[in-house]
Amino acid sequence: MQLISTHTILTSDLGVKGNLFGGVFVTWIDLAAYNLAAEAIKDPNIVTLKISECLFLQPAKINNIVKIYGRIARVGNTSVTVEIEARKIDVIKGDEVVLCTTSVVMVLVDVYGNPKKIKKAAIKDSF
Ligand SMILES: CC(C)(COP(=O)(O)OP(=O)(O)OC[C@H]1O[C@@H](n2cnc3c(N)ncnc32)[C@H](O)[C@@H]1OP(=O)(O)O)[C@@H](O)C(=O)NCCC(=O)NCCS
Repeated sequence: MQLISTHTILTSDLGVKGNLFGGVFVTWIDLAAYNLAAEAIKDPNIVTLKISECLFLQPAKINNIVKIYGRIARVGNTSVTVEIEARKIDVIKGDEVVLCTTSVVMVLVDVYGNPKKIKKAAIKDSF
């Protein structure tokens, strides 16, 4: 898996109990998957079709750093599946804990928003 993005948890990212708000976290996951998929197929015209189950088993708190890793699991005719793993880094203790693993399906679309065939020849070798 490769590192896609790093986020420091700010006050504005917290929910009512002081944990990282789930909606913010899912935004980070969605964006990370988008970035990796768009770079892999060299085309930004993709939309999110599916985010699989996200289980938030560990709280993440203010000042924790969240790192989002990913890899391209599958490139289909029109879709790209990205596996995601998010980890929190406690900079004081140096601990690294997996917060969530999931997969995201992105679909390449044309100007009308309909699925469009991915040019496999365009896929970057490194993916
Ligand atoms: C994404 C969208 C264009 C797909 O249109 P569609 O007509 O349902 O697409 P298709 O049935 O042709 O499937 C497209 C691809 O998605 C895959 N797919 C469809 N349903 C799937 C599912 N439940 N799980 C995984 N993959 C799925 C298909 O296998 C196909 O992939 P492939 O061509 O690589 O084999 C359409 O659903 C859409 O516009 N959704 C809204 C997207 C959006 O706004 N996202 C932002 C978040 S709200």
